[in-house]
Amino acid sequence: MKYSIAIDGPAGAGKSTVAKLAAKRLGIPYLDTGAMYRATAVACKRHGIDVTDWEAVRAFLPQLKLEVRYLDSGEQRMLADGEDITHLLRTEDISQGASLVSMIPEVRDALVELQRDVAHRQAVIMDGRDICTNVLSDTPHKFFITASAEERANRRVKQLVEQGQPADYETILADIIRRDRQDSERAYMPLVCKEDTVKIDTTNLTIDEAVEALLQGVCE
Ligand code: DC
Repeated sequence: MKYSIAIDGPAGAGKSTVAKLAAKRLGIPYLDTGAMYRATAVACKRHGIDVTDWEAVRAFLPQLKLEVRYLDSGEQRMLADGEDITHLLRTEDISQGASLVSMIPEVRDALVELQRDVAHRQAVIMDGRDICTNVLSDTPHKFFITASAEERANRRVKQLVEQGQPADYETILADIIRRDRQDSERAYMPLVCKEDTVKIDTTNLTIDEAVEALLQGVCE
């Protein structure tokens, strides 16, 4: 692969599932950039920093020691201060914290630098909110993966039920809508789908169909 593949889209649209499968098929690494914002939110929480206090977060940034590592299986792990914190990233609290911390321009600039470092070394498939529009804006392979908010809430409920966790559809739908709004209305590098980007709506697609749509787009 000469060029990297950029994927943007709202929370829960299936970006990471599609990206992981496509990465395997293409034999290139997958970088989940949302995990980096989540890891930042975890690090802030551990240091007692309120992510809505931009000054406090900015002052903390020089101490933020984040690292992306890959296991032999290709699985991505996130380390903060040398400790693997991947298991702490997927709570509703951290989802909201990541969305809030991602509004801060200095946080975004620091994480984008790390993301570009990874992409400089080799072609990768990367997903997030500003990958097509900013991080990998030079690549010809740009995709926007989306689905209706209701379908995304249904998928999240199903996932939580399968994990034996409590799941209330209305609360989850409200969280999704709030996060969509925060991510697409923030002032700095908001989530947008531009005209040079191929849109894949997964509302009525299986995972395999979505992967095929993406791979077809890469080959065109
Ligand atoms: O993809 P995710 O749900 O794991 O991302 C968590 C939050 O991080 C999301 O609500 C917005 C933010 N994010 C971002 O602003 N830019 C990215 N490239 C990736 C994630």
